[in-house]
Amino acid sequence: MPCEVAARFLILYGSQRGQAQSIAEEICQQAAEHGFTADINCLSNHEIRPVVFVISTTGDGDPPDTAQKFVRKIKNKSLPHNHFSHLHYALLALGDTNYANFCNGGKTIDSRLQQLGAKHFYATGHADDGTGLEVVVDPWIEGLWDALKKTFSSMATSDQQDTDLSDCTQDDFHKNASGQEKYKSDLEVDLHLLKLSETDSQKGKAITSDSIDVETLSTVLVASLKQSVPLLSESALNVPALPIMWDKYHFINCFYYTVPSDKDGYHEVSISKAVQLTQDDAVKTAISLELDISEQNLAYQPGDAFDILCPNRASEVEELLLRLDLQTQKNCAVQVNLLKNSSKKAAKIPLHIPQNGSLQFILTWCLEIRSAPKKAFVRALADFTQNSSEKRRLLELCSKEGSADYNSFVRDANVCLLDLLRAFPSCLPPLSLLFEHLPKLQPRAYSAASSSLQHPGKVHFVFNVVEFPARPEHPARTGLCTGWLADHVSSILRPLGTVLASERLGTSAPPKVHVRPRPSGTFHLPADPSVPVVMVGPGTGVAPFIGFLQQREKEREANQEATFGETWLFFGCRHKDKDFLFREELERFAHNGTLSHLIVCFSRDEPDAAGTVNRPTYVQHNLSLHAKNVASILLKDKGSLYVCGDAKNMAKDVNDTLLEIIGNELQIDKLDAMKTVAGLREEKRYLQDIWS
Ligand code: 2AM
Repeated sequence: MPCEVAARFLILYGSQRGQAQSIAEEICQQAAEHGFTADINCLSNHEIRPVVFVISTTGDGDPPDTAQKFVRKIKNKSLPHNHFSHLHYALLALGDTNYANFCNGGKTIDSRLQQLGAKHFYATGHADDGTGLEVVVDPWIEGLWDALKKTFSSMATSDQQDTDLSDCTQDDFHKNASGQEKYKSDLEVDLHLLKLSETDSQKGKAITSDSIDVETLSTVLVASLKQSVPLLSESALNVPALPIMWDKYHFINCFYYTVPSDKDGYHEVSISKAVQLTQDDAVKTAISLELDISEQNLAYQPGDAFDILCPNRASEVEELLLRLDLQTQKNCAVQVNLLKNSSKKAAKIPLHIPQNGSLQFILTWCLEIRSAPKKAFVRALADFTQNSSEKRRLLELCSKEGSADYNSFVRDANVCLLDLLRAFPSCLPPLSLLFEHLPKLQPRAYSAASSSLQHPGKVHFVFNVVEFPARPEHPARTGLCTGWLADHVSSILRPLGTVLASERLGTSAPPKVHVRPRPSGTFHLPADPSVPVVMVGPGTGVAPFIGFLQQREKEREANQEATFGETWLFFGCRHKDKDFLFREELERFAHNGTLSHLIVCFSRDEPDAAGTVNRPTYVQHNLSLHAKNVASILLKDKGSLYVCGDAKNMAKDVNDTLLEIIGNELQIDKLDAMKTVAGLREEKRYLQDIWS
């Protein structure tokens, strides 16, 4: 239904990994259908008008990087209390309840805007990625349109612009739900063979031509590629096999293999060592990698992380191509255009899809093909499903009533596009649909497990190879990045305590990986070494603490006069003899005083011969046993507590234990203990590096 008033509003987003941005774009696209004109902007580039904010949360409850400047500006203490008194806004905050400070990015902006006199025209939404963003996002967007109509008409009929319309809740607007609309793509995808003319090839540019013979082309291409693409070695180009092998396949693959490079801050580095830290009969396999970063001169501190960019699995890309009937076109260049008659105002070509990249390259390096398809994607897939019962089932999954069903069938089962295509054989979506809905392939962050004082020019990581068991919807598989890394280093992987022949001789070429430093703002050792620290890191959560302790060990060696505070490490694993990661190194730290207290528990070992009753099984049980010391370090000595590892269970339980410890120590109730713990967070003395 068109709106009668001239209704233009602005959507502002602050996005870390593109989720908030794509939801903001979704609102912008729907606006025209509801009779509004919406403009969309990143917070890094804002202006003030009726505004819809979509803000994600990152780190320790911080606003995303793109919103930082905006937050700094609005936090300026010299701003008058009525600075935003003419601003009417709605805010959708994104977060994850598995982490502390849920939705804090959005909440920070929301509360400051309120302090500065801005008015809600619609109740703030808080969407939880832990249970599914769409549970809140979909109804929130649905309710937005009527809230906007009320805002604009109240602005038109009254000069008073200070009506708070936040009572327009989502529920008021459910009646407005429209029927299913047929999916219309905004993108047109063209596939064509890429070839080079002699002149253009010298510039390394691609053009189309149908009349170049393959052998001439191959020579020209090699010359051109070697000039313009220093990343490629001759062996990578497979030069000796050229006369028979060199065709468009090689050209396009090789040419575009250069894309994940310096452009986004990535560096290609060698993996100089790979060690399996667990015994073969451990339930999980933990691997430690050593990367040689000396040539790239990459600096880091213990506590920092590195982004690793990994490709999608070749077998899954192949299967997807086959399933979409595009196998024979995988080496064609992809050209994406925006349709002129595009229905959606904010439609644009996704920036992460390079023009003229080969189809195979795009599916391998640019799109997150393992991501769980969002409801909007499922709805669009239904439009390309022939079989009526399959179509009905897809529509059920993405319906409002089907949220629980969607969660159990798609989210909890880790279902991806390929799984849906397997389960719904009559679904045959066009490429444009994939390009619009599959998110950008994201790097995975790994905490450094080393100190450059101890390992100059090197950085270490440790990870468990994630395993997803077989389910009716998909076969057993490993996590995208951890599985890829494990396969990628298999030729140099060795058990703990052994040396690989090739490593001794330095013969075989090391595997390579694309990495980019991701410094942590806060997760670092205190600048003053006399400050005591408590570290809690079961399993691979011990990684950053290995870096901390290596650093401390070197600092102690270099400066024996200095005072060093106590260092406590609470570590836990299943079995003493199977998955006690870094055991030798930790025992050395404890032995030489780098660690004042190494407290370890084993969750699955049989009780020892003494048959100790109620043996601590988890790190938090040991924290409780040492409650007095922990409380004293945090409350009296102004020490720091670091927690690293699983967010879903461990970090929550450790937090609960901390509340108990503080509550008992100070003889205060839970609410006051929570305030004290919040204070520790504020002071950056309770720091988490956790993941789910
Ligand atoms: P479990 O696998 O035997 O349950 C590293 O993963 C260690 O953390 C394992 O010993 C694991 O025990 C343990 N762990 C599992 N859940 C935990 C929780 N909620 N709090 C603390 N440790 C936990």
